[in-house]
Amino acid sequence: KPLVFSGVQPTGNLHLGNYLGAIKKFVALQETSDCIYCVVDLHSLTAQLVHADLQDQTRSITAAFLASGIDPKKHIVFNQSRVMQHAELAWIFNCVARIGWMNRMTQFKDKAGKDRENASLGLLAYPSLMAADILLYRATHVPVGEDQKQHLELTRDIAQKFNNDFSARIAELGVGVEIQVGEETVNGFFPMTEPLIGGPAARIMSLRDGSKKMSKSDPSDLSRINLTDDADTISKKIKKAKTDPDALPSEVDGLAGRPEAENLVGIYAGLADIGKEAVLGQFGGQQFSVFKPALADLAVDKLAPVAAEMRRISADHAYVDGVLRDGGERAGNLAETTMKTVRDIVGLLQG
Ligand code: TYM
Repeated sequence: KPLVFSGVQPTGNLHLGNYLGAIKKFVALQETSDCIYCVVDLHSLTAQLVHADLQDQTRSITAAFLASGIDPKKHIVFNQSRVMQHAELAWIFNCVARIGWMNRMTQFKDKAGKDRENASLGLLAYPSLMAADILLYRATHVPVGEDQKQHLELTRDIAQKFNNDFSARIAELGVGVEIQVGEETVNGFFPMTEPLIGGPAARIMSLRDGSKKMSKSDPSDLSRINLTDDADTISKKIKKAKTDPDALPSEVDGLAGRPEAENLVGIYAGLADIGKEAVLGQFGGQQFSVFKPALADLAVDKLAPVAAEMRRISADHAYVDGVLRDGGERAGNLAETTMKTVRDIVGLLQG
């Protein structure tokens, strides 16, 4: 059975990009896979160390998982900092990965900005902790939005270098498994994790600028639809979304060079669980004055029940904390099993 891992940072409001690009996929994968979904609170310290409400943000992401339909009994939901093995494996990966690999990460360059010398060391090492999240459970599949693609490639590079650097120890201890690296099969400890990126909603763009991704950190609240927005706010934001003056095309090819139109069609497709072709089959030839109200109705229809459920669940601290505690315990057991072997492979003295 595939083992799925993914994480969401507890910083800022969840928006439609997080929901369609990630959380909706998390929900669907429960049918076919064993899933571990993590609120990555340690990652949220990398850009900003002091948070006024980290605990409530952690509860709110957890509530979003549960409200969307993730089942914490069949699968595992927890917050990262409860399982200290994440930080431990990240340290080992810090010694496997090269500074040059980290320096090349576009997200690091974006977040660090011009004053790179003054960015936290944690921000530079962020992808190493992310690789540890995934490989601690030897996850085979990771559902994410398009913006995490480079980090997942780095995760594979780290796994491959670890397997390679320690190949003799892995063979000696007999803890290797067959791992496919391109055309070759090698004996290694960590798998080559497959990213699950794709569908019409892998990269949802800002409603104000079709060249920027929808993000928690955009100063304009009109640029995104938050999971907690009420029906009026959702309708207003879609009405105000930037578009071009033309009618929608009938074919997907006709969206080329029209990023705002393509984005709204992608959002409709993601919400309705259909392809962009099907959306254009229905709305091709129509003006935005027709399409936007239909999109607003669909968004309210799909998001309002999630938002209401999220509010109800996040108010119940005892329940949410209980879910995280239980998930943390189960994740911790799996993590410790991996780490025992990793410590042996690396040659640390235990016992
Ligand atoms: P984060 O918290 O920024 O985002 C959570 C998820 O939402 C996706 N996403 C989007 N998808 C489509 N369109 C958008 N505009 C959009 N914006 C965000 C992200 O791709 C992500 O899947 N580094 C990760 C968290 C992380 C993680 C992990 C993920 C830590 N460890 C291990 C997977 C596996 C992050 O910052 O996501």
